[in-house]
Amino acid sequence: MRKKIFRFAILPWFKWIAYIFYNKKYLTGRHFEGKSLEGWVWVLNGIWKQKILGFNRYLPFPCHPTARIYHYNNIFFDVDNLDNFQSPGIYFDCVRKSIHIGKGTYIGPNVGLLTANHQFDNLDDYQEGKDIVIGKNCWIGMNAVILPGVTLGDKTIVGAGAVVTKSFLQGHCVLGGVPATVIKTLPVKNTALE
Ligand SMILES: CC(C)(COP(=O)(O)OP(=O)(O)OC[C@H]1O[C@@H](n2cnc3c(N)ncnc32)[C@H](O)[C@@H]1OP(=O)(O)O)[C@@H](O)C(=O)NCCC(=O)NCCS
Repeated sequence: MRKKIFRFAILPWFKWIAYIFYNKKYLTGRHFEGKSLEGWVWVLNGIWKQKILGFNRYLPFPCHPTARIYHYNNIFFDVDNLDNFQSPGIYFDCVRKSIHIGKGTYIGPNVGLLTANHQFDNLDDYQEGKDIVIGKNCWIGMNAVILPGVTLGDKTIVGAGAVVTKSFLQGHCVLGGVPATVIKTLPVKNTALE
């Protein structure tokens, strides 16, 4: 009942307030349409924590207050996967290069995606960056770190705590460990998801 009241009586007005604080293009997709209201809950939280208290204020989309997202313009993702930015402790740093997150990919808490290392002889500066490309329907477990230049094929599962130092283009596998290696291969199914 409360959901119905929110959806029909409050949401039409609340949307206009949301569009003042966030870019409208991000407030669409599966988290904002149909039966799901969770996107609007992120917005409500975000207006308070992000836009008023100031945690990640500059971001044009709702994001967890403990996340650190640098150079967000260099991150490419589908709005249906805005849930990845609600994961606590994520650290996405796209210095000089970009991060591509494939549709349907899930990213767990405290995951680091880093496109450039510091220069060893001048830590105030960065080495030349390299893009990170994550395929479709991947799952990056919590505390995993993906280093500059890594490309992961579709349906790559990265185990908790893994440090991925090189590319695994084939996808359909489970990676784990430091440095990450293939700990399992997954069957390639001929479904619409693949
Ligand atoms: C990677 C993962 C999905 C694998 O699950 P699984 O397929 O059931 O794996 P298994 O338990 O059968 O383990 C297979 C082997 O991989 C090892 N392994 C499992 N997870 C590992 C990890 N994160 N890092 C390193 N090795 C791992 C196991 O020790 C086992 O090794 P063994 O064959 O020598 O005994 C799971 O272990 C994991 O890390 N999940 C992440 C959960 C998470 O982060 N959730 C956050 C919310 S999004």
